[in-house]
Amino acid sequence: MQLERGNLSRRGFMQRSLAGLAGAGIPVWFGKDLVAAAEQAQAQAQNVSGTNTIKVGLIGCGGQGNDDAGTNLRNARGMARIPGVRFVACCDVDRERRETFARSIHPGETLPHTGDFRELLARQDVDAVLIATPDHWHALTAIAAMRAGKDVYCEKPLTLTVEEGKALVRVARATNKRLQTGSQQRTEFNGRFRMAAELVRNGRVGRVRSIECRVGDNPLGGPFQVTQPPAALDWDFWMGPTPRCDYVREKCHYTFRWWYEYSGGKMTDWGAHHLDSAQWILNMDTGGPTEVEATSEPPRAQPNCYTCHPHFVVTYKYPGDVTVRCQSRGENGLRIEGEDGKWIFVARNKLEASDPRIISEPLPANAIRLPVHLFQTRNFIECVRNRQQPICNVEVGHRSCTVCHIGNIAIRTGQRLHWDAEHERFVDNAAANQMLGREMRAPWRLDA
Ligand SMILES: NC(=O)c1ccc[n+]([C@@H]2O[C@H](COP(=O)([O-])OP(=O)(O)OC[C@H]3O[C@@H](n4cnc5c(N)ncnc54)[C@H](O)[C@@H]3O)[C@@H](O)[C@H]2O)c1
Repeated sequence: MQLERGNLSRRGFMQRSLAGLAGAGIPVWFGKDLVAAAEQAQAQAQNVSGTNTIKVGLIGCGGQGNDDAGTNLRNARGMARIPGVRFVACCDVDRERRETFARSIHPGETLPHTGDFRELLARQDVDAVLIATPDHWHALTAIAAMRAGKDVYCEKPLTLTVEEGKALVRVARATNKRLQTGSQQRTEFNGRFRMAAELVRNGRVGRVRSIECRVGDNPLGGPFQVTQPPAALDWDFWMGPTPRCDYVREKCHYTFRWWYEYSGGKMTDWGAHHLDSAQWILNMDTGGPTEVEATSEPPRAQPNCYTCHPHFVVTYKYPGDVTVRCQSRGENGLRIEGEDGKWIFVARNKLEASDPRIISEPLPANAIRLPVHLFQTRNFIECVRNRQQPICNVEVGHRSCTVCHIGNIAIRTGQRLHWDAEHERFVDNAAANQMLGREMRAPWRLDA
């Protein structure tokens, strides 16, 4: 869904947008709200003046940092494309990456840049930060940012551990800062995941029996070679709170995802999206499962091989006798099974049901509806201005990420674990509870 109306009349814009959405399989009854939101965004944009510019600093100038920021001018979700938003500084421990971003985000300008996020956070001209570092840096940088008075857009998975998530929630409350988690399935993809949630919550498939989240296999790889880090990269700072080790290219940019030391593999990479959608569909944003167990295949055992389990099936029990399965195999997306053979399958580019009328028939006027937002980034900037809570606020991001983390703990322990969502602890399992947090390498510590 694009926002630009250009020279089109209101009616023309509505018709063209609805036709485009229909071509993407979105029925008119649902698409109307999306078009109205696009019109509203345009109207709001006209009211933004230079005096209420939101000044943003980027921490982590890699693939997703550039995507969220909008270095590509055609990317409508990019923060820099939102009227009244300016990037004023950037930070990356890789000098080449920060220099490239500094030169490219606002053509004709070069932003001040640094390799130390604490210098960026000390700047008085930064109102908000966009954090797109690898996962092991999310909590520390977000906590420091909120303490420095900045609102935070932090990429998913929000954390590396459950303890980090609890700390983030505490600090966001104490500082009254806004935090948006960058898991954009509640806003983007033409509202498909919202439609699935609304249809299910209004009983279109009857009682939900199970949800299958398919997130993809982790790659098997290695042993990889130890080499010298590139001259532009501060490898020690990149490792930060994680155990010190020799540089291996495959541990660093992008492929950090496949090492438990820095991330959680597909369980957190895609789980932070699909398990977040499952929690939303089940209306479990402040809760979670009661039980989790897993089967998996082990990664390669030699040193310097990817550490995440390549294939896995994680089974959660939720209150109300609902099973959620997060598995590496199958077509990426969520399949929601209800009663009498009714189901819905939702992916980023697809929404299907056992009977097409489950989707095509409009929901009644008194149906449960969920908030309509076009982009995760835009919702964040609105909340920085109006102080409302973003759609994936810190609690939502933390709870969804917790589901991913306890799934990984089930994979790594091979045990059936009982989860007390209220107290955020495993029941009677000291070893598993130990895995809810991790020691940090000095001088870094989770100071919250
Ligand atoms: N929402 C989405 O759809 C989506 C998509 C892709 C990635 N992501 C998330 O975005 C994050 C980044 O992923 P990526 O693919 O862009 O990784 P990447 O490796 O391309 O980029 C991360 C950047 O952060 C930098 N960095 C590391 N430590 C830093 C520190 N302490 N201070 C400043 N910079 C630091 C690295 O040098 C690197 O340039 C991950 O958490 C990932 O899960 C989200």
